[in-house]
Amino acid sequence: MIPIFEPLFEGRERDLLRECIETGWISSQGRFIGEFEAAFARRAGMPFAVVTSSCTTALHLALEALEIGPGDEVICPDLTFIAPANMIRLTGATPVLVDIDPISWGIDPAAMRAALTPRTRAVIVVHAFGHPADMDPILAIAREGGLKVIEDVAEAPDALYRGRVVGTLGDLACYSFFANKIMTTGEGGMVICRDPALDQRLRILRDHGMSREQRYVHVLPGYNYRMTNMQAAIGLAQLERLDSIHARRNAQAALYAKRFKDNRRIAWRPAADWCRPVHWLATVTLAAPEWRDPLLAHLKDQDIEGRPMIFPVHEAAPYRAANNPNRFPVSRSISYRSLHLPSSTGLGDGAEVGRICDTVLEWLDRRQ
Ligand SMILES: Cc1ncc(COP(=O)(O)O)c(C=O)c1O
Repeated sequence: MIPIFEPLFEGRERDLLRECIETGWISSQGRFIGEFEAAFARRAGMPFAVVTSSCTTALHLALEALEIGPGDEVICPDLTFIAPANMIRLTGATPVLVDIDPISWGIDPAAMRAALTPRTRAVIVVHAFGHPADMDPILAIAREGGLKVIEDVAEAPDALYRGRVVGTLGDLACYSFFANKIMTTGEGGMVICRDPALDQRLRILRDHGMSREQRYVHVLPGYNYRMTNMQAAIGLAQLERLDSIHARRNAQAALYAKRFKDNRRIAWRPAADWCRPVHWLATVTLAAPEWRDPLLAHLKDQDIEGRPMIFPVHEAAPYRAANNPNRFPVSRSISYRSLHLPSSTGLGDGAEVGRICDTVLEWLDRRQ
């Protein structure tokens, strides 16, 4: 079976991990925590980076650092992995779902503007499936409305929006290092920001609300959202190889894109000319939604693991009652017609991608 995504450890991961075990620094203290944060901040060109146990907890910390809570509304795209909506809800605020743009698959600025109310405090902008959201209009609307901007960069680290790297355009940005992400620590996340006061709040909230000056003096109701030194060791080694990871992944994306070009039954993930996306999960969109599940079944028969795209957030049980499905035509259309193909960084040479594409295209050729 060709898996959908396998992590790849080609750098110093084993050596750094061995150091953690041999020195006993396996919890959330130890040199790799600070080194990973510093290296990540340096690469992003941001002053502060705070490692967390996941992107989900990073999003929660970011919202809490901004003091978002009951009575507030936070805008969030409808086509995203569900964590941003769930974390808004966890703070007691209301997630306000908006439809997406058909090319970027990020927040549609017109839908964002239409969703503003006097209670809107913030927006979580997801850079979806490797592609930046259209930040200039989103930031302009946020500025006019006095909204804070959290970028969710889980799926698009290093993508460029009009020459600027995503994650540095809003107030805070959150990253994921889950095993199927472009770089991984197993589980893990990061928040980056520019404001020293936010950095301090993030650190206090991450560690049980404990004062940074006095241990066991708790100044905020906090959490344990820390990362271990072992995860940070892996993260540091992955970060050192991130450029080479992107290069290999881009080569893979080019192979896929070439095979699906100019086909009326299937389209490779589109890209706007104002950005440089990164390649996360290989994503294709079919002309007809009813083809998706039979195609996935056929791929499975051929030992190729595919995956349907995530469902729109408004369809999930906690959000269904508050959201009329007719408000999300683009999100629904993309979600129902799209699927992911194997995308591991180490996915062989062109031969494996070739076999995957042959299998997909031969099946589609038999459709009416
Ligand atoms: C856009 C987005 N946000 C958040 C997450 C949650 O990441 P984690 O698994 O690190 O909590 C994911 C994970 O897939 C994601 O794709």
